[in-house]
Amino acid sequence: MQNELVTCDIKDRVAWVRFNRPEKRNAMSPALNREMMEVLDELEFNDDVGVLVLGGEGSAWTAGMDLKEYFRETEREGLKGVRRSQRESYGWWRRLRWYQKPTIAMVNGWCFGGGYGPLFSCDLAFAADEAQFALSEINWGILPGGGATKVVVDLLSMRDAMYHAMTGELIDGKKAAEWKLVNESVPLDQLETRVAEVAATLLEKNPVALKATKDAVRRVADMTYDNAEDYLVRAQEAANFFDGEGRKEGIRQFIDEKSYKPGLGAYDKSRQK
Ligand code: ACO
Repeated sequence: MQNELVTCDIKDRVAWVRFNRPEKRNAMSPALNREMMEVLDELEFNDDVGVLVLGGEGSAWTAGMDLKEYFRETEREGLKGVRRSQRESYGWWRRLRWYQKPTIAMVNGWCFGGGYGPLFSCDLAFAADEAQFALSEINWGILPGGGATKVVVDLLSMRDAMYHAMTGELIDGKKAAEWKLVNESVPLDQLETRVAEVAATLLEKNPVALKATKDAVRRVADMTYDNAEDYLVRAQEAANFFDGEGRKEGIRQFIDEKSYKPGLGAYDKSRQK
Protein backbone atom coordinates (compact mmCIF):
# COMPACT_ATOMS: atom_id res chain seq x y z
CA MET A 1 0.00 0.00 0.00
CA GLN A 2 1.91 3.10 -1.20
CA ASN A 3 0.10 6.42 -1.08
CA GLU A 4 1.90 9.63 -1.79
CA LEU A 5 2.10 11.13 1.70
CA VAL A 6 1.86 7.99 3.79
CA THR A 7 3.61 4.69 3.11
CA CYS A 8 2.81 1.28 4.51
CA ASP A 9 4.63 -2.07 4.32
CA ILE A 10 3.22 -5.17 5.96
CA LYS A 11 5.85 -7.63 7.16
CA ASP A 12 5.44 -10.52 9.61
CA ARG A 13 1.96 -9.23 10.61
CA VAL A 14 3.31 -5.77 11.46
CA ALA A 15 2.09 -2.77 9.42
CA TRP A 16 4.96 -0.27 9.17
CA VAL A 17 3.12 2.98 8.41
CA ARG A 18 5.23 6.09 7.83
CA PHE A 19 4.64 9.80 7.40
CA ASN A 20 6.08 10.41 3.94
CA ARG A 21 6.81 14.10 3.34
CA PRO A 22 10.48 14.04 4.27
CA GLU A 23 11.19 17.18 2.22
CA LYS A 24 8.72 19.02 4.51
CA ARG A 25 9.90 17.14 7.61
CA ASN A 26 6.62 15.17 7.55
CA ALA A 27 4.58 18.21 8.55
CA MET A 28 0.90 17.25 8.72
CA SER A 29 -1.01 18.91 5.91
CA PRO A 30 -4.76 18.37 5.37
CA ALA A 31 -3.90 16.06 2.44
CA LEU A 32 -1.60 13.98 4.63
CA ASN A 33 -4.26 13.78 7.35
CA ARG A 34 -6.82 12.51 4.84
CA GLU A 35 -4.42 9.89 3.49
CA MET A 36 -3.54 8.74 6.98
CA MET A 37 -7.21 8.15 7.78
CA GLU A 38 -7.56 6.09 4.58
CA VAL A 39 -4.55 3.97 5.51
CA LEU A 40 -5.86 3.42 9.05
CA ASP A 41 -9.24 2.43 7.57
CA GLU A 42 -7.64 -0.15 5.29
CA LEU A 43 -5.50 -1.70 8.01
CA GLU A 44 -7.81 -1.76 11.02
CA PHE A 45 -9.64 -5.00 10.22
CA ASN A 46 -7.04 -6.47 7.87
CA ASP A 47 -6.37 -10.02 9.10
CA ASP A 48 -2.76 -9.84 7.88
CA VAL A 49 -2.02 -7.14 10.45
CA GLY A 50 -1.64 -7.68 14.20
CA VAL A 51 0.29 -4.54 15.19
CA LEU A 52 0.60 -1.08 13.64
CA VAL A 53 3.84 0.93 13.88
CA LEU A 54 3.85 4.64 13.03
CA GLY A 55 7.23 5.99 11.91
CA GLY A 56 8.54 8.78 9.69
CA GLU A 57 10.56 8.87 6.48
CA GLY A 58 13.77 10.90 6.55
CA SER A 59 15.04 13.01 9.43
CA ALA A 60 11.65 13.70 11.03
CA TRP A 61 8.91 11.77 12.73
CA THR A 62 6.70 14.79 12.18
CA ALA A 63 7.41 18.53 12.39
CA GLY A 64 3.82 19.00 13.64
CA MET A 65 1.07 20.76 11.76
CA ASP A 66 1.94 22.27 8.39
CA LEU A 67 2.03 25.99 9.17
CA LYS A 68 1.27 26.90 5.57
CA GLU A 69 -1.24 24.29 4.41
CA TYR A 70 -2.91 23.42 7.74
CA PHE A 71 -3.03 26.91 9.27
CA ARG A 72 -2.55 29.73 6.76
CA GLU A 73 -4.33 28.22 3.77
CA THR A 74 -7.31 26.80 5.68
CA GLU A 75 -7.74 30.02 7.65
CA ARG A 76 -8.16 31.79 4.30
CA GLU A 77 -11.31 29.68 3.83
CA GLY A 78 -12.72 30.97 7.12
CA LEU A 79 -14.18 28.98 9.99
CA LYS A 80 -15.47 26.28 7.67
CA GLY A 81 -11.95 25.51 6.45
CA VAL A 82 -10.46 25.65 9.94
CA ARG A 83 -13.03 23.29 11.42
CA ARG A 84 -12.72 20.88 8.51
CA SER A 85 -8.95 20.58 8.86
CA GLN A 86 -9.26 20.21 12.65
CA ARG A 87 -11.82 17.42 12.16
CA GLU A 88 -9.48 15.64 9.76
CA SER A 89 -6.42 15.73 12.02
CA TYR A 90 -8.15 15.18 15.36
CA GLY A 91 -10.23 12.53 13.63
CA TRP A 92 -7.35 10.22 12.74
CA TRP A 93 -5.66 10.77 16.10
CA ARG A 94 -8.89 9.79 17.86
CA ARG A 95 -9.26 6.81 15.55
CA LEU A 96 -5.75 5.74 16.51
CA ARG A 97 -6.38 6.18 20.25
CA TRP A 98 -9.16 3.58 20.08
CA TYR A 99 -7.67 1.49 17.27
CA GLN A 100 -8.55 -2.17 17.07
CA LYS A 101 -4.89 -3.23 16.84
CA PRO A 102 -2.07 -2.36 19.25
CA THR A 103 -0.09 0.64 18.01
CA ILE A 104 3.52 1.75 18.52
CA ALA A 105 4.95 5.20 17.75
CA MET A 106 8.51 4.85 16.42
CA VAL A 107 9.94 8.35 16.76
CA ASN A 108 13.00 8.46 14.55
CA GLY A 109 13.61 12.24 14.48
CA TRP A 110 11.90 15.62 14.90
CA CYS A 111 8.61 15.59 16.82
CA PHE A 112 6.92 18.95 17.28
CA GLY A 113 3.62 20.38 18.52
CA GLY A 114 0.77 18.68 16.72
CA GLY A 115 2.92 15.53 16.58
CA TYR A 116 2.15 15.01 20.25
CA GLY A 117 -1.42 14.08 19.17
CA PRO A 118 -0.49 10.90 17.28
CA LEU A 119 2.36 10.28 19.75
CA PHE A 120 -0.18 10.04 22.57
CA SER A 121 -2.65 8.14 20.40
CA CYS A 122 -0.22 5.26 19.96
CA ASP A 123 -0.40 2.77 22.82
CA LEU A 124 3.37 2.58 23.18
CA ALA A 125 6.13 4.92 22.03
CA PHE A 126 9.82 4.26 21.34
CA ALA A 127 12.23 7.01 20.34
CA ALA A 128 15.73 7.27 18.98
CA ASP A 129 18.15 8.81 21.48
CA GLU A 130 18.81 11.31 18.69
CA ALA A 131 15.13 12.27 18.25
CA GLN A 132 14.19 15.83 19.21
CA PHE A 133 10.89 16.80 20.81
CA ALA A 134 9.41 20.22 21.53
CA LEU A 135 6.16 22.04 22.07
CA SER A 136 7.32 24.78 19.74
CA GLU A 137 3.93 26.49 19.58
CA ILE A 138 5.09 29.17 22.02
CA ASN A 139 7.96 29.99 19.63
CA TRP A 140 5.57 31.11 16.92
CA GLY A 141 2.95 32.64 19.14
CA ILE A 142 0.21 30.16 20.01
CA LEU A 143 -0.61 27.84 22.89
CA PRO A 144 -0.08 24.09 22.46
CA GLY A 145 -3.52 23.17 21.11
CA GLY A 146 -4.89 20.14 19.32
CA GLY A 147 -4.63 18.23 22.59
CA ALA A 148 -0.87 18.83 22.98
CA THR A 149 -1.22 20.54 26.36
CA LYS A 150 -3.42 17.70 27.58
CA VAL A 151 -0.84 15.16 26.39
CA VAL A 152 2.00 16.65 28.43
CA VAL A 153 -0.19 17.22 31.48
CA ASP A 154 -1.33 13.57 31.34
CA LEU A 155 2.15 12.14 30.79
CA LEU A 156 4.64 14.46 32.52
CA SER A 157 4.95 15.96 35.95
CA MET A 158 3.29 19.37 36.31
CA ARG A 159 6.68 21.12 36.52
CA ASP A 160 8.10 19.37 33.43
CA ALA A 161 4.86 19.95 31.49
CA MET A 162 4.87 23.63 32.39
CA TYR A 163 8.55 24.11 31.54
CA HIS A 164 8.19 22.20 28.26
CA ALA A 165 5.12 24.18 27.17
CA MET A 166 6.37 27.62 28.27
CA THR A 167 9.93 27.46 26.93
CA GLY A 168 9.47 25.49 23.71
CA GLU A 169 12.93 24.02 24.35
CA LEU A 170 14.00 20.81 22.67
CA ILE A 171 14.51 17.58 24.58
CA ASP A 172 16.16 14.51 23.07
CA GLY A 173 14.88 10.93 23.06
CA LYS A 174 16.71 10.07 26.28
CA LYS A 175 15.09 12.94 28.17
CA ALA A 176 11.71 12.06 26.60
CA ALA A 177 12.09 8.54 28.04
CA GLU A 178 13.18 9.92 31.42
CA TRP A 179 10.08 12.15 31.45
CA LYS A 180 7.91 9.20 30.30
CA LEU A 181 6.77 10.98 27.15
CA VAL A 182 7.91 7.72 25.49
CA ASN A 183 8.47 4.25 26.94
CA GLU A 184 12.10 3.98 26.00
CA SER A 185 14.81 5.45 23.82
CA VAL A 186 17.57 3.57 22.02
CA PRO A 187 20.23 4.60 19.48
CA LEU A 188 18.65 5.35 16.09
CA ASP A 189 20.34 2.38 14.41
CA GLN A 190 18.65 0.04 16.91
CA LEU A 191 15.21 1.64 16.91
CA GLU A 192 13.52 -0.50 14.26
CA THR A 193 14.92 -3.72 15.75
CA ARG A 194 13.68 -2.79 19.22
CA VAL A 195 10.23 -1.86 17.92
CA ALA A 196 10.03 -5.11 15.91
CA GLU A 197 10.89 -7.01 19.10
CA VAL A 198 8.09 -5.32 21.06
CA ALA A 199 5.66 -5.86 18.16
CA ALA A 200 6.58 -9.57 18.15
CA THR A 201 5.79 -9.80 21.87
CA LEU A 202 2.36 -8.21 21.29
CA LEU A 203 1.67 -10.58 18.39
CA GLU A 204 1.93 -13.53 20.79
CA LYS A 205 -0.95 -12.25 22.91
CA ASN A 206 -4.66 -12.83 22.55
CA PRO A 207 -5.85 -9.93 20.31
CA VAL A 208 -9.27 -9.60 21.96
CA ALA A 209 -7.60 -9.30 25.37
CA LEU A 210 -5.13 -6.75 23.97
CA LYS A 211 -7.88 -4.48 22.64
CA ALA A 212 -9.81 -4.76 25.93
CA THR A 213 -6.63 -4.00 27.88
CA LYS A 214 -5.53 -0.97 25.89
CA ASP A 215 -9.02 0.55 26.06
CA ALA A 216 -9.21 -0.16 29.78
CA VAL A 217 -5.92 1.62 30.50
CA ARG A 218 -7.20 4.76 28.77
CA ARG A 219 -10.79 4.56 30.11
CA VAL A 220 -10.10 3.98 33.81
CA ALA A 221 -7.69 6.93 34.04
CA ASP A 222 -10.47 9.37 34.90
CA MET A 223 -12.84 6.99 36.76
CA THR A 224 -13.31 6.51 40.47
CA TYR A 225 -12.10 3.16 41.80
CA ASP A 226 -15.64 1.80 42.03
CA ASN A 227 -16.53 2.92 38.51
CA ALA A 228 -13.32 1.39 37.19
CA GLU A 229 -14.01 -1.88 38.99
CA ASP A 230 -17.44 -2.04 37.41
CA TYR A 231 -16.17 -1.03 33.95
CA LEU A 232 -13.47 -3.72 34.06
CA VAL A 233 -15.98 -6.45 34.97
CA ARG A 234 -18.20 -5.42 32.05
CA ALA A 235 -15.23 -5.05 29.67
CA GLN A 236 -14.06 -8.60 30.43
CA GLU A 237 -17.59 -9.94 29.97
CA ALA A 238 -17.80 -8.15 26.62
CA ALA A 239 -14.41 -9.62 25.64
CA ASN A 240 -15.73 -13.09 26.55
CA PHE A 241 -18.53 -12.53 24.06
CA PHE A 242 -15.99 -12.04 21.23
CA ASP A 243 -13.56 -14.70 22.43
CA GLY A 244 -15.13 -17.13 24.87
CA GLU A 245 -12.48 -19.82 24.53
CA GLY A 246 -9.23 -17.84 24.82
CA ARG A 247 -8.89 -17.66 28.58
CA LYS A 248 -10.19 -21.23 29.00
CA GLU A 249 -7.43 -22.43 26.68
CA GLY A 250 -4.92 -20.28 28.58
CA ILE A 251 -5.95 -22.00 31.83
CA ARG A 252 -6.00 -25.47 30.19
CA GLN A 253 -2.47 -25.23 28.79
CA PHE A 254 -1.17 -24.21 32.23
CA ILE A 255 -3.21 -26.34 34.65
CA ASP A 256 -3.88 -29.52 32.62
CA GLU A 257 -1.17 -29.63 29.98
CA LYS A 258 1.57 -27.80 31.92
CA SER A 259 3.00 -26.59 28.60
CA TYR A 260 3.68 -22.96 29.65
CA LYS A 261 3.60 -20.69 32.68
CA PRO A 262 1.44 -17.52 32.43
CA GLY A 263 3.86 -15.74 34.74
CA LEU A 264 6.59 -16.20 32.14
CA GLY A 265 4.89 -15.80 28.76
CA ALA A 266 1.76 -16.22 26.63
CA TYR A 267 -0.16 -19.44 25.92
CA ASP A 268 -0.02 -20.90 22.43
CA LYS A 269 -3.06 -19.29 20.85
CA SER A 270 -2.56 -21.18 17.57
CA ARG A 271 -4.01 -24.23 19.37
CA GLN A 272 -7.15 -22.38 20.48
CA LYS A 273 -10.33 -23.84 18.98
N1 ACO B 1 5.04 23.45 8.45
C1 ACO B 1 5.28 23.78 7.18
N2 ACO B 1 6.47 23.56 6.57
C2 ACO B 1 7.42 22.96 7.30
C3 ACO B 1 7.23 22.60 8.63
C4 ACO B 1 5.95 22.87 9.22
N3 ACO B 1 5.64 22.50 10.48
N4 ACO B 1 8.37 22.04 9.10
C5 ACO B 1 9.24 22.06 8.08
N5 ACO B 1 8.67 22.62 6.98
C6 ACO B 1 9.25 22.83 5.67
C7 ACO B 1 10.17 24.04 5.62
O1 ACO B 1 9.43 25.22 5.43
C8 ACO B 1 11.06 23.68 4.45
O2 ACO B 1 10.34 23.93 3.26
P1 ACO B 1 11.11 24.48 1.95
O3 ACO B 1 12.10 23.41 1.60
O4 ACO B 1 10.01 24.62 0.94
O5 ACO B 1 11.75 25.75 2.35
C9 ACO B 1 11.21 22.18 4.59
O6 ACO B 1 10.11 21.73 5.36
C10 ACO B 1 12.47 21.74 5.27
O7 ACO B 1 12.54 22.43 6.50
P2 ACO B 1 13.90 23.07 7.06
O8 ACO B 1 13.50 24.03 8.12
O9 ACO B 1 14.75 23.58 5.96
O10 ACO B 1 14.56 21.74 7.68
P3 ACO B 1 15.65 21.60 8.82
O11 ACO B 1 16.03 20.15 8.83
O12 ACO B 1 16.72 22.62 8.72
O13 ACO B 1 14.86 21.94 10.20
C11 ACO B 1 12.97 21.68 11.66
C12 ACO B 1 13.90 21.00 10.66
C13 ACO B 1 13.74 22.05 12.95
C14 ACO B 1 11.88 20.62 11.95
C15 ACO B 1 12.34 22.98 11.07
O14 ACO B 1 11.83 22.69 9.77
C16 ACO B 1 11.21 23.54 11.89
O15 ACO B 1 11.45 24.24 12.86
N6 ACO B 1 9.95 23.21 11.52
C17 ACO B 1 8.79 23.69 12.25
C18 ACO B 1 8.57 22.89 13.54
C19 ACO B 1 7.36 23.41 14.26
O16 ACO B 1 7.50 24.28 15.09
N7 ACO B 1 6.17 22.89 13.92
C20 ACO B 1 4.93 23.40 14.38
C21 ACO B 1 4.62 22.86 15.74
S1 ACO B 1 3.18 23.62 16.43
C22 ACO B 1 1.89 22.75 15.84
O17 ACO B 1 2.05 21.69 15.26
C23 ACO B 1 0.49 23.19 16.11
